[in-house]
Amino acid sequence: MEGSPQTWHYGLIARYWAEFNTEGPEIEYFQRFVERGQPALDVACGTGRLLIPWLKAGLDVDGVDVSERMLKLCRERAESEGLSPSLYAQSMHELDLLRRYRTIVICGGLGVGSSRANDQQALERLRDHLEAGGTLVLDHEVPYASAMDWPYWPSEKRKELPQPWPPPGDRKRASDGTEYSLRARTLSLDPLAHSVRAEIRAEQWKDGELVAEEEYPIDLMLYFKDELVMMLERAGFKDVEVRGGYDGGPPTPDHRFLVFSAKK
Ligand SMILES: C[S@@+](CC[C@H](N)C(=O)[O-])C[C@H]1O[C@@H](n2cnc3c(N)ncnc32)[C@H](O)[C@@H]1O
Repeated sequence: MEGSPQTWHYGLIARYWAEFNTEGPEIEYFQRFVERGQPALDVACGTGRLLIPWLKAGLDVDGVDVSERMLKLCRERAESEGLSPSLYAQSMHELDLLRRYRTIVICGGLGVGSSRANDQQALERLRDHLEAGGTLVLDHEVPYASAMDWPYWPSEKRKELPQPWPPPGDRKRASDGTEYSLRARTLSLDPLAHSVRAEIRAEQWKDGELVAEEEYPIDLMLYFKDELVMMLERAGFKDVEVRGGYDGGPPTPDHRFLVFSAKK
């Protein structure tokens, strides 16, 4: 496993992500921001779910991710499409690239395997990587959206943690014929720090036999709307706007994801 900060996007999890997470409304939604401002940087680009369709659309986008394993799978997929993106293995809180961007996108990446201090520093590093007038746009899942974690905020419920492993998830067949299943559980929740420690287990099956099994822990940060707005402002951003993900309308209590945009 790679060093700090720690995500769970390695090994079988990375393979699962590359095989099965290739679609979603975020691709088109964030693409509109990229079309309005290039060059763009896809931060926490993973296996290229957003990056590769954008490159195929002729957009000038680089990618960065902390997991070399995710980047390797991204590069392989890009090459199979005849593309050769600039991809960098860096953590966003220590981002140090030569190029400056009109748009920076983070989809599903802020607060993953992180801490409040690292996320604040990441926002500052991202601002430094924008051209004057450039836009940062990111999404974040609100803390109260998770039926798995939200019940554990009161101390009485937290005594029940860690959760036992749930039953195995449905197996999905990958392109090489092996099958994968994932399950996750909550280990602990810290309402003061607004963080959850979770654990994921991935299993790989071949011809009905379990051939590989991996487990990874992860710390996930839980930000409320106004908290993230203040973090963006503290990082020096202006014109911070919040929308409901991914319909472009105003945020409502029922939006699971919020989208934050901010200008340098
Ligand atoms: C939920 S995945 C999202 C991937 C991609 N943006 C997408 O939407 O398909 C989160 C990604 O964040 C990456 N990541 C986690 N912590 C990071 C950090 N500190 N800096 C850069 N990338 C990070 C993980 O390796 C993983 O690829």
